[in-house]
Amino acid sequence: MSVLSLIVEHRMSFPSSTQNLIQQPEPAVIAEAAAVLKRGGLVALPTETVYGLGADASNAAALKHLYEVKGRPGNHPVIVHIGNSEQLSDWAQDIPEAAWKLAKAFWPGPLTLILPRTPKVPDTVTGGQDTVGIRVPNHPVALALLREFGGGIAAPSANRFGRISPTQAEHVLNDLGTDIDLILDGGACAVGVESTIVSFQNGRPIILRPGMITAEQIESVLGQQTADIQTSSAPRVSGSLASHYAPQTPVFLLEIDTIIEHCFANPSQAIGILARSPKPESLKTNNNVQWIEASSDAAVYAQQLYAHLRALDAQHLDALYVEIVPQKPEWDAIQDRLKRAAFQES
Ligand code: TXA
Ligand code: MG
Repeated sequence: MSVLSLIVEHRMSFPSSTQNLIQQPEPAVIAEAAAVLKRGGLVALPTETVYGLGADASNAAALKHLYEVKGRPGNHPVIVHIGNSEQLSDWAQDIPEAAWKLAKAFWPGPLTLILPRTPKVPDTVTGGQDTVGIRVPNHPVALALLREFGGGIAAPSANRFGRISPTQAEHVLNDLGTDIDLILDGGACAVGVESTIVSFQNGRPIILRPGMITAEQIESVLGQQTADIQTSSAPRVSGSLASHYAPQTPVFLLEIDTIIEHCFANPSQAIGILARSPKPESLKTNNNVQWIEASSDAAVYAQQLYAHLRALDAQHLDALYVEIVPQKPEWDAIQDRLKRAAFQES
């Protein structure tokens, strides 16, 4: 199969919300992508969160290949993407009432539910656990592909294991290039960070991975408190490994004043900065400092975060300094990703 010739131009200019995704994908392209999945191939697909690397979730050989390409340990589970909530019972059983409520409130959307698996789910999907992660993505290309394909699509983020997730087709091409069969280009992802992952323990919702659907939003739908991963005996989540989502360049998460002081103290160091304010006048003449002014709006910041980190990382600088973000619920997922990106192995 030819790879590069199959990269599909399906550009849409996304607003920073998940509304308004109205453009219809090309049927011939979607048919080709579904055929690739059916013969056990790998298709990178856009979702509203990040690009996923998709394989037929009921084909163990395709899944094995997916793990190899991603460089992911075989015991890490992957999320099964389905086209609508009616397909939930193909993959999960003993579904708690709270899960149905969340599915109804947030699907299609950036929420993954961890539920008891049905016997049909291959061990390669679940990493041998007795649960399966499932979500209905909110992207017209992903939904069209799911409709055409008919089954579940197992899709981790389409980056090499431990690296920054892709939010544009070009990111996937740079990371995985010719190792995969097809990349569907659906433009820049509207949400920009991975889905919120919720599991249930004795009916109580537990947030395993924060996302742009916040604990508060989940609590308001369910009328009950959520717990987070620290307080639960939760199953394995690779996104919860300390060093995850990491650029190659060392990342430091600091107050903006400290970052600026550091620039003055080290004028010859090549530094990338991700801040929420413009480059100060006093640093304008320092060409060693690459300054990106990110948004002060959490949704817009999240949407651009990985592209910004990738852009800075690609310049092979000595260090990346990221301004710490507000301690507010809508920044939780961003803070989580930044902390993992900033983790330094000792
Ligand atoms: O937004 C997203 O969730 C993106 C898009 C492509 O859908 N996908 C994504 O997949 O982030 P991945 O594989 O990079 O992260 C999925 C996370 C992993 O940390 C995995 O351990 C966890 O979901 N997970 C999957 N199934 C699980 C299960 N049965 N129990 C606990 N964690 C599970
Ligand atoms: Mg990932």
